[in-house]
Amino acid sequence: MKIIMDERGKKYLIAKPQDFHSDLGIIKEEQIANASFGDTLITHLNKEFKVIKPNINDFIDLMDRRCSILIQKDIGTVIAKTGIGNSSKILDAGTGAGAIALNFGNIVGPEGHVYSYEIREDFAKIAKSNIESFGLNNIITVKNKDIKKGIDENNLDLVFLDLIKPYEIFEEVYDSLATGGYLAIYAPYIDQVETSYKIAKKLGFKDLAIVETLEREMEVRQQGTRPKTRMVGHSGYLLFGRKL
Ligand SMILES: C[S@@+](CC[C@H](N)C(=O)[O-])C[C@H]1O[C@@H](n2cnc3c(N)ncnc32)[C@H](O)[C@@H]1O
Repeated sequence: MKIIMDERGKKYLIAKPQDFHSDLGIIKEEQIANASFGDTLITHLNKEFKVIKPNINDFIDLMDRRCSILIQKDIGTVIAKTGIGNSSKILDAGTGAGAIALNFGNIVGPEGHVYSYEIREDFAKIAKSNIESFGLNNIITVKNKDIKKGIDENNLDLVFLDLIKPYEIFEEVYDSLATGGYLAIYAPYIDQVETSYKIAKKLGFKDLAIVETLEREMEVRQQGTRPKTRMVGHSGYLLFGRKL
C-alpha cells in the first residue's frame, strides 16, 4: 500500500494495483508498483507525485468509510487512560469503518487481539477490507454481530463502546472483563454519559470518570503566536470505569 501526493499536497491512497487518474494526469500501474517510498512519479502531463509510506493516521484519513469516525484526540485519550499496549485483549463496538479498532490493533501487537462487533453487514465488510489493507487482519477480528446479543470473549483488558445506549450491556461487559480491565465509552450527549455513570456505579465499576478532551491549535503569524479562532468545539464525552 502506498500514498501518492501531488504538487498541491493532496494525498491519494493506492490500496490495489491499477492505473491512477487525476486532473494532473495518469500514472501507470507499473510505475506505482515499481516505485519505492520517497520516489517521485511523473504523470503523462508531466506533473510530479511523491510516493509516501502511509502511517495509521494517513490511512484512516483516506480509507473507505460510510459513517462518522472517532478523531485522534479521543482515540489518544482512550489509549492513554486505559493503559493498553502490547498483548492487550480488547473488545470494541460498533466498528463503523474501523478507526479505533485499527488504532487498538496497531498497538497490541501479535500477542494481543482486538475483537470488533458491527451490527451492519455492509459496514463490517468495509471495516474488514480497511483492516486487511492496513495489514492488521491477523490482529483484529471483525464480527458482523449485534453486541446486545452477547459477548463471546472474556478476560478482556478493555471494552470500548461507541453505541447509542451503551449502558444496556454494562452487566455483560463487567462479566467479560479481567480484574483490572476497563470499560470506556464514547458518547456525544451528556445524558448518555450521565446514565452510563449511574448504571456503571450501581454495577460496581470503580475509578469512574467522565472526561472531555479539548484540542486547541496554535497559529504562528507575523504579529505573534496565538490560538486559532476556530476549533472542534465538541466531539464526544468519554466515560471510564474499572473492574477492581
Ligand atoms: C459512530 S459508528 C462507530 C465509529 C467507530 N467506533 C470508529 O472507531 O470510528 C457506530 C457504529 O455502531 C454500529 N452499531 C450500532 N448498534 C450496534 C450494536 N448493537 N452492535 C454492534 N454494532 C452496532 C453502527 O452500525 C455504526 O457502524
